[in-house]
Amino acid sequence: MTDLSVRRLVGADVGDWRALRLEALSTYPEAFLTTYDEAAAESLDTIADRLDNGQTFGVFVASDIVGIGSLIQLTKTQTKHRAELGAFFVQPGAQGSGAASALVQGITEAARQSGISQLELFVAASNARAIAFYTRTGFREVGRIPNATLSDGHAETDLIMIHAIG
Ligand SMILES: CC(C)(COP(=O)(O)OP(=O)(O)OC[C@H]1O[C@@H](n2cnc3c(N)ncnc32)[C@H](O)[C@@H]1OP(=O)(O)O)[C@@H](O)C(=O)NCCC(=O)NCCS
Repeated sequence: MTDLSVRRLVGADVGDWRALRLEALSTYPEAFLTTYDEAAAESLDTIADRLDNGQTFGVFVASDIVGIGSLIQLTKTQTKHRAELGAFFVQPGAQGSGAASALVQGITEAARQSGISQLELFVAASNARAIAFYTRTGFREVGRIPNATLSDGHAETDLIMIHAIG
């Protein structure tokens, strides 16, 4: 897909971010640790503050946002080279288009600039598409967390994946 761009989101993007986040959680509830109700309960001010002070990114087709992803850098002296990639979502209409790859690439470049040399993520073992995507992007499985989520009595295993970017 042409005309793809990636940039860090700020407080002014709160409406776009919230819309995509809620779409992700309603469409793929099993792919995320957060529930739709938990996300819907957050105030716009709280989200805008987090965008202004954090590292959340959007991928755009022309001026339309089609995907989001966040980087959460660990803060201790001995851990600040690590960051968790989370809340990663590309709208169904933009899946398979290269938008997800562009987003990971943009986030990876920003991570390097922040001194991060290892990206880490959790992904549900049943999420074959996401696992295939992350593997193609350079992540590899390093472990599993049984009972990572419990939903209506159903336990889901998560894969822990890492990508060395240093
Ligand atoms: C995960 C996500 C961001 C990936 O973006 P995408 O645009 O779909 O990814 P791509 O199409 O570039 O790559 C998907 C890969 O999975 C493959 N694939 C598709 N369906 C599959 C399936 N059911 N099982 C295994 N692999 C599958 C595709 O062939 C492709 O691999 P290839 O490029 O080597 O052929 C996107 O699918 C998404 O937002 N999913 C819903 C939310 C989610 O799961 N987020 C991740 C939370 S950890």
